[in-house]
Amino acid sequence: MSSEDSFYQDILKGLGVYFDSPFVADIRETAERFPGPDLGFALNRNQITSKKWLVDTLFETTGGKLGRVCILGGWYGVLGAMLLHDGRFGIETVCSVDKDPTCEAVAGCLNRTHVDTGKFTSLTADMLDLDYGEEGFDLVINTSCEHVERIGDWFARVPPEGLLTLQSNNYYGIDGHVNCVDDLGAFKAQVPLSELLFEGQRELPSYTRFMLIGRK
Ligand SMILES: C[S@@+](CC[C@H](N)C(=O)[O-])C[C@H]1O[C@@H](n2cnc3c(N)ncnc32)[C@H](O)[C@@H]1O
Repeated sequence: MSSEDSFYQDILKGLGVYFDSPFVADIRETAERFPGPDLGFALNRNQITSKKWLVDTLFETTGGKLGRVCILGGWYGVLGAMLLHDGRFGIETVCSVDKDPTCEAVAGCLNRTHVDTGKFTSLTADMLDLDYGEEGFDLVINTSCEHVERIGDWFARVPPEGLLTLQSNNYYGIDGHVNCVDDLGAFKAQVPLSELLFEGQRELPSYTRFMLIGRK
């Protein structure tokens, strides 16, 4: 380990002790095992701001009893960890799905605490291939709508009245951002909800994040 790595590892260890936080301990372990820059992107200020916004709004909108949760485009499992470490929620299980096979091991490590209790699983799959009716999730979260070119085909697979939490953005020009939207109106047109419980947007450095919570 380089002296720079051990510098950051020591700080994360100290923070884990100070906050008595298994989440910080899992982040430290993951940073040690998977030290690529992408983990830094997944935990950067914009990403955490967007996910904290989602977590807090979801609590205010639903009261926190979430049951079986599916997170699509779950990447390194940061949102799953934020939900499962948040004592306000009643969550049976979180399944974090990503089509990139390199995500599964990182998400499992970042969620070590809840892998051990059986509450967290990560799955390598394309969200367009899942049978959401059969899986019986209580809540489907898709924070990667800007990445899904065939968003209409994905939406068609979600059972009627299913509870959804969706994010997209107007961050054009980024690799993989094939389905950005200009505003909330365009986002709502892509994923027409029969019951809208929340709609909002958040200005971040470089782009705007949009969020919808509701039933299909
Ligand atoms: C860069 S990440 C996450 C960005 C997002 N705004 C967030 O933080 O939630 C986007 C992830 O979506 C995944 N992804 C894109 N299309 C997908 C699909 N059809 N099924 C499953 N995962 C998908 C990618 O592999 C990638 O890990």
